[in-house]
Amino acid sequence: MKPFLVLIFFSLISCLSSSYGYDPLDPHGNITIKWDLMQSNSGSSDLRVSLFNYQLYRHIDQPGWKLNWGWQGDEVIWNMWGAEATEQGNCSKFTGGQLPHCCEKSPVIVDLLPGAPYNQQTANCCKGGVLSSLTQDPSKFVAGFQMNVGGSADYTGFQMPENFTLGIPGYTCGNATEVPPSKFYSDGGRRRTQALRTWNVTCIYSQFMASSSPKCCVSLSAFYNNTIVPCPKCSCHCQGLSPANCIKYGETPSLLQQKHDPNKEQSPVVICSQHMCPVRVHWHVKQSYTQYWRVKITITNLNVVQNYSQWNLVALHPNLQSVTQVFSFNYKPLNQYGYINDTGMFWGIEFYNDMLLQAGESGNVQTEMLLHKDSGIFTFREGWGFPRRILFNGDECVMPLPDDYPRLPNNAHTAASSSACRIFLPLLLLIVML
Ligand SMILES: *[C@@H]1O[C@H](CO)[C@@H](O)[C@H](O)[C@H]1NC(C)=O
Ligand SMILES: *[C@@H]1O[C@H](CO)[C@@H](O)[C@H](O)[C@H]1NC(C)=O
Ligand SMILES: *[C@@H]1O[C@H](CO)[C@@H](O)[C@H](O)[C@H]1NC(C)=O
Ligand SMILES: *[C@@H]1O[C@H](CO)[C@@H](O)[C@H](O)[C@H]1NC(C)=O
Ligand SMILES: *[C@@H]1O[C@H](CO)[C@@H](O)[C@H](O)[C@H]1NC(C)=O
Ligand SMILES: *[C@@H]1O[C@H](CO)[C@@H](O)[C@H](O)[C@H]1NC(C)=O
Ligand SMILES: *[C@@H]1O[C@H](CO)[C@@H](O)[C@H](O)[C@H]1NC(C)=O
Ligand SMILES: *[C@@H]1O[C@H](CO)[C@@H](O)[C@H](O)[C@H]1NC(C)=O
Repeated sequence: MKPFLVLIFFSLISCLSSSYGYDPLDPHGNITIKWDLMQSNSGSSDLRVSLFNYQLYRHIDQPGWKLNWGWQGDEVIWNMWGAEATEQGNCSKFTGGQLPHCCEKSPVIVDLLPGAPYNQQTANCCKGGVLSSLTQDPSKFVAGFQMNVGGSADYTGFQMPENFTLGIPGYTCGNATEVPPSKFYSDGGRRRTQALRTWNVTCIYSQFMASSSPKCCVSLSAFYNNTIVPCPKCSCHCQGLSPANCIKYGETPSLLQQKHDPNKEQSPVVICSQHMCPVRVHWHVKQSYTQYWRVKITITNLNVVQNYSQWNLVALHPNLQSVTQVFSFNYKPLNQYGYINDTGMFWGIEFYNDMLLQAGESGNVQTEMLLHKDSGIFTFREGWGFPRRILFNGDECVMPLPDDYPRLPNNAHTAASSSACRIFLPLLLLIVML
């Protein structure tokens, strides 16, 4: 009975997840911003700010985070290490002597680039705002900077600011809450010091808030059928509707010759296709052995203005519970619900294929994997060999309709199991209500 209930729960949340913010694949995922007040006197305060990316598979790619907040009073940032404010703002009331680093009421802070001068660096700084996910590179999921904050003559001590944003579409940050002060080790771990006060701010991602249109799509094929099922038409856009942002293969459009600002996210310029997606994931059921079957996954970049560094792919398939071997990609199961381990994350191997180059520059990466044919669940019938969901860099990819999946020859016309979501949802709701 219990597995059955869990299954119902799981199907429900996967049916609902695409329309609401909650992510069943990473239910606790968040980015935490921690503020440590290290020292405070009547003139100014020293603060240490850290960002922790506690998400299993979502990373922060270039152009990186842009942390913003609103000061409660007329605070200014006298000095900053490990990051910088994008605008100095109006510091005209500080005449004579050194000017503050930033006088904005609502400053925007960006990470320094790698290779920043040594005397401006701090621990965990200087990655150009890029943050890895917890799974992909646990050594690069933290960012940090320090600052000295003060104000005009009547500065009365530190007040935690409000209204945090990360400058990345899809993330919303909550209010700062005071937590027990952080502790820091010194003298090789023999002594612990602590912050005067510490606050945490939690930011959560929602694809619903993030984007108006999908960013990738899935095409399918199988050794037992010579039909290649393409990405659904207009998966990301319709070709006729955005002619300026699509180029014919091999063409160099004039907009590519313009220099783009590396600090702004470049809107995709894709190779013309009926789906108009910047990224296509192809799932090919390649071979069948007595004990195993083999899948080939190819990720193609159709965006001519972006290299995807540190890309990742999340796939859902019931047979991922018995992955035997994954070639030329890293793989890690993402098991959020105990014994339902049907989800896994793939990412590139450093210096080999961790960069998905822009279209035209061999912009694809591929893997093959061997899966064990688990008795009782394995079948090639009814599109079972195809994935239930695919996410590229955390964005849900558009799948072909189950009715279009490549079929075994002479197979009766039946809907594939992933359409179960639509068919069984009313039924499941009914069961739950009873
Ligand atoms: C943020 O993620 C961390 C690590 O998974 C978790 O311990 C913490 O409870 C999460 N915070 C919130 C508010 O969900
Ligand atoms: C935070 O945002 C609210 C609503 O926009 C605004 O009224 C308030 O003044 C802001 N607080 C700060 C400290 O900027
Ligand atoms: C800068 O701030 C001062 C007061 O602090 C004000 O008098 C002046 O008008 C401001 N200048 C601009 C350009 O906003
Ligand atoms: C955040 O703080 C504001 C003002 O202090 C309050 O109105 C709002 O309800 C708080 N939001 C949450 C989620 O606690
Ligand atoms: C605040 O955030 C830090 C860093 O993520 C974490 O270690 C700490 O447990 C958090 N505190 C609370 C009470 O959530
Ligand atoms: C992508 O990488 C290639 C090879 O390193 C480089 O030539 C190209 O300029 C890069 N493109 C972008 C948009 O950064
Ligand atoms: C999936 O879970 C089963 C049962 O808990 C376990 O035997 C198996 O090794 C797991 N597979 C993977 C790929 O984690
Ligand atoms: C291959 O699959 C397609 C799409 O489902 C189907 O129309 C076609 O009949 C299948 N071909 C064979 C030889 O069964």
